[in-house]
Amino acid sequence: MDQKKRIFSGIQPSGDLTLGSYMGAIKSWAALQEDYDCLFCIVDMHAITVRQNPADLRRRTLEQMAQYIACGLDPEKNIMFVQSHVPQHAELSWVLGCYTQFGELSRMTQFKDKSAKHADNITAGLFTYPVLMAADILLYQADLVPVGQDQKQHVELCRDIAARFNNSFPDTFTIPEPFIPKMGARIMSLGTPENKMSKSEPDGCVFLMDSPEDIARKFKRAVTDCETAVRYDKENKPGVSNLLTIYCAATGKTIEQAEADFAGQGYGVFKPAVGEAVIELLRPIREESQRLLKDKAYLEAVCKDGAEKASYLATKTLRKVYKKVGFVAR
Ligand code: TRP
Repeated sequence: MDQKKRIFSGIQPSGDLTLGSYMGAIKSWAALQEDYDCLFCIVDMHAITVRQNPADLRRRTLEQMAQYIACGLDPEKNIMFVQSHVPQHAELSWVLGCYTQFGELSRMTQFKDKSAKHADNITAGLFTYPVLMAADILLYQADLVPVGQDQKQHVELCRDIAARFNNSFPDTFTIPEPFIPKMGARIMSLGTPENKMSKSEPDGCVFLMDSPEDIARKFKRAVTDCETAVRYDKENKPGVSNLLTIYCAATGKTIEQAEADFAGQGYGVFKPAVGEAVIELLRPIREESQRLLKDKAYLEAVCKDGAEKASYLATKTLRKVYKKVGFVAR
């Protein structure tokens, strides 16, 4: 019998994938795919909670699928799909929204941040975003949800919604747990190493599809400090520490080994070396993505197959939920 625990996670196609999304999430997903029953989603419905250019969104969605595969996620082993292809996400989201308090959603720190940032476009979708995320997770009865620190509050809310629903209607949902994979590295901006690497700051951000020249340039310009020693000290040397983290994630070395590699050498040697390590890490990923993107029929077939498998599981949960809340069977 299949006793593997189930994992659900997703990334929004709201920007091109970055070195941060690879080292922080996708790489650890690839390590989980052997031991867990995984669903990896491209959450395009979440992406439109802030304005997107439609052509870019469409292009990035297929690119993201190609990149998932190029990063080592296997469409034969995992269910990989596009959120909007499985209408049950929207359907369950409506029901869960009726079991979520206005006050709970108002307390979400990401909503507060994003509504401050997009003050001219604070939509109901932005507000109810965590409900859709809860639907993503609960539809598949996921046990574990690998997320970064910034999404933990949303997973907590998902647990609260699920527990409340189960309280009224026992045995409906598995209560999921946030899961911060050990090997996930938190990658900071190369320009302002106090902040997470983010596409909104393109110069401090390495994209998976960046050319070797761009990567080299970005690392040469990476912010360090006025010392010369390559030493890990997150408090006092955030830039150098971030570069060491990246170097180790790219090469598999430990921090001690990396410090030893650069002992007695200045940043003029260190920064280009980190760039080189990242160039070599990303080269096969970029080349494989480009190859896959030429084969649109294959990518579309992967999406279709993933959506079918996801939909099969989602239908079971949704049917149960509709029955419990009192909807007449169709
Ligand atoms: N909100 C997540 C993010 O922005 C993406 C996401 C949507 C997600 N649905 C999910 C992550 C379900 C984990 C599980 O990073």
